[in-house]
Amino acid sequence: MKITVSLIKADVGGLAGHSRVHPDLKAEASLVLESAKNSGKLIDYYVTSVGDDLQLLMTHKEGENSSYVHGLAWEAFIRATEIAKKYKLYGAGQDLLKDTFSGNLKGMGPGVAEMEIEERKSEPIAVFMMDKTEPGAFNLPIYKMFADPFNTPGLVIDPHMHDGFEFEVWDVIAHKKIILKTPEEMYDLLALIGSKSRYIIKRVYPSQKNPHLSHEPVAVVSTDKLHEIAGKYVGKDDPVGIVRGQAGLPAMGEILEAFSFPHLVSGWMRGSHNGPLMPVSIEDAIPSRFDGPPRVIGLGFQLAEGKLIGPADLLGERAFDQAREIALTMTEFMRRNGPFEPHRLPDEEMEYTTMPEVQKKLQKRMVDL
Ligand code: F6R
Ligand code: MG
Ligand code: MG
Repeated sequence: MKITVSLIKADVGGLAGHSRVHPDLKAEASLVLESAKNSGKLIDYYVTSVGDDLQLLMTHKEGENSSYVHGLAWEAFIRATEIAKKYKLYGAGQDLLKDTFSGNLKGMGPGVAEMEIEERKSEPIAVFMMDKTEPGAFNLPIYKMFADPFNTPGLVIDPHMHDGFEFEVWDVIAHKKIILKTPEEMYDLLALIGSKSRYIIKRVYPSQKNPHLSHEPVAVVSTDKLHEIAGKYVGKDDPVGIVRGQAGLPAMGEILEAFSFPHLVSGWMRGSHNGPLMPVSIEDAIPSRFDGPPRVIGLGFQLAEGKLIGPADLLGERAFDQAREIALTMTEFMRRNGPFEPHRLPDEEMEYTTMPEVQKKLQKRMVDL
């Protein structure tokens, strides 16, 4: 049975600044999705939040880019925004960039990650949601899951994985995409995705050579704002991703292993700083210090004819305590650098900058060396 898993998110207002989502917003969005489930158009849904982003996970048979499903998410965000406005929450409706829904959420503000798949005999999925960072934050962990044998020994020792994977990488500046195969093109892949604000892993597929797995997406990441406004830097877009696991794909533990190292990502305060990506539990999915540090939660589900069995809180568990400790040490280390690079981002990547004004003001006083 073909099932589509759609994960759609938007920041429609924060409780106490850009901090978290008020429960009433989640309840209102749930009402919208519940009625769609009752009418049979959605198979199932799960509403949650990470930081100030309202997250709608939905399963259905409408396929990717369905105007019905995108319209439903839009309606849920609009209804949540009405409450956010009433409560005067911070940045009410901030991610809804257009007034009316035009059939697809592309370019309208919300972030979308979706995949249409043939549900396997058993279909474990992990959904990851990040706050205070950008889609390129997924490059390193997705690479590790599907291409790094030091993270995923299955690549070496599982005959069903040994053929490797194909990475669909988007160049969000030139507005182009390319498929790169691992292990063959691993160095080329790394050359691109190391530039994580320009080259973003959008999807991963099993190798076409692999006779054991069908050539369907096994991972997908949201890249929306970046995709739509190519050639121009448009700031951070807190990303989400969906990863399928087990039986010829990375084991759940190999998927999670990729988050055991709190790598440096850009975002954090004013979308203009580098900081560690801290794996946290659902309860701790709330930025605090310096509007961060950037966070990621992982939710595990089993699909059962499209029903979402779960969630399992995948990153809240004790085995990630050390990653959190390291992230907190890194937080202190980075913060001590204050307004200096590489804590502060390079000029062209900053979401907030006074640089042009400062340069203009001081221009006349600048003398030749
Ligand atoms: C980062 C983020 C926050 C805000 C910051 C300033 O992605 O959302 O760090 O940039 O709180 O927000 P304003 O300018 O709305 O006061
Ligand atoms: Mg916000
Ligand atoms: Mg956010």
